[in-house]
Amino acid sequence: VKPENNAIVIFGASGDLTHRKLIPAFYHLYANGLLPEDFAILGVSRTAYSDQDFRDKLRSALEENEKTDATTLTKFCQHLYYQALNTSDAEEYAVLKQRLDIFKDTHHTRGNAVFYLATPPSLYGVIPECLAAHGLNDEADGWKNLIVEKPFGYDLASAIALDKQIHACFQEHQIYRIDHYLGKETVQNLLVFRFANGMFEPLWNRNFIDYVEITASEALGVEDRGGYYDGAGAVRDMFQNHLLQVLAMVGMESPAAINADSIRDEVVKVMQSFKPLSDDDLHKNLVLGQYTESDVRGKHLPGYRQEHGVNDESRTETYVGMKMFIENWRWNGVPFYVRTGKRLPTRVTEVVIHFKKTPHPVFGANAPENKLIIRIQPDEGILMSFGLKKPGAGFESQEVSMDFHYDKIESLNMLTAYERLLLDCMKQDATLFARTDAVKACWKFVQPILDYKEQPEHLFGYAAGTWGPKEADELLSNDGRQWRFPCKNLANTDY
Ligand code: BG6
Repeated sequence: VKPENNAIVIFGASGDLTHRKLIPAFYHLYANGLLPEDFAILGVSRTAYSDQDFRDKLRSALEENEKTDATTLTKFCQHLYYQALNTSDAEEYAVLKQRLDIFKDTHHTRGNAVFYLATPPSLYGVIPECLAAHGLNDEADGWKNLIVEKPFGYDLASAIALDKQIHACFQEHQIYRIDHYLGKETVQNLLVFRFANGMFEPLWNRNFIDYVEITASEALGVEDRGGYYDGAGAVRDMFQNHLLQVLAMVGMESPAAINADSIRDEVVKVMQSFKPLSDDDLHKNLVLGQYTESDVRGKHLPGYRQEHGVNDESRTETYVGMKMFIENWRWNGVPFYVRTGKRLPTRVTEVVIHFKKTPHPVFGANAPENKLIIRIQPDEGILMSFGLKKPGAGFESQEVSMDFHYDKIESLNMLTAYERLLLDCMKQDATLFARTDAVKACWKFVQPILDYKEQPEHLFGYAAGTWGPKEADELLSNDGRQWRFPCKNLANTDY
């Protein structure tokens, strides 16, 4: 079913996110016939452009970076409009209201609107107030949804304050806090894999699972985002949101139904069960790192402090690794080792479930482990490894695997994360968006890390292109374990 006709207003239209992610996502949805029968996309920012300038600019960006079809592109561009506006001046929003009124006639939008905040976070509280000042939060004539990009807050206190400010103008059902990891096919697949199969769920607990690893490694550095990143760091940029959401999908209970409330009720319950971090946990179970310059396979990689926009004495972490626990009946005592970093040897995101060994090693102490590897990206898929008899004499066992790759499904019609989430928002489905209580639960858990990282002695260096500080290996080796080496061929890594 297509979404109802609506107008999409993108604040921050001259920014990177609009060009790199949002407009390509809308174009692909359009080309696949998934957008409403009629719609208007209105870009808003300070820069003065005409509608035509905006269309021309986006058209050439799309032609350059995406596979496009000329006729489809021409038709798509007819839905694009632009309005220059000082986004922090409520008076100027009168013109926005006028344009939305006009779209009711020209694009039959019936007053339905999505407001996308793709601006610097300092405007996340102001824009909703300005919209409300002109009744643009009012659902009497059509639904009004507000999409808020991450980061939602800078710490627990600011997230609570921002939430209050937005809730003064929009109701929770209108607020869509985006976490693009939830838009990834394989992250959603965690739910289906767990709750659509009778054979895994009975084992999915502390009686059978030894420990869990979650890795989100990136080969790239901070690229041209040093200015933003230096004020954020890996804990705020990746850990507080994407990784904790993935962890919640691994750890949550079965939802009562597949709808936004039921699923998010379970997500928040598991987040509220994260074992709070004591001082001892912070010292023993958390490792923060920053990459230093290095030569990798013939290429010189600058250190973080040499990156554009980064303070040359910066203490910002580009790596976080930690051991954490979920305190509930299902998971008590099972360590979750979680790590993410920039300038690691390759780009990979995966969850590894390590099952306990057999109670008695009849075939010798070196029997293979039972592992389930859920590969989120790249080469999305699921791999199960177990032991079988080595052919020949005796009873020696060897590790073998069964795997499933998404690229084996024919007629793949996978949506990118942004496509899926934009479509869901237009369909009023908030399942894959972070709810207010979940955001707060994550910040609450993370706040002690934010305080801890303020102390400079808590940062370790690691050479760019390596797996992070050696102290992060010790998180596991102290427990007699080691991180899984998640790739076959590092030579393919594109630095
Ligand atoms: C973003 C972070 O939210 O996620 C980036 O701000 C990071 O720093 C990116 O690179 C990773 O996303 P993906 O989809 O490439 O894993």
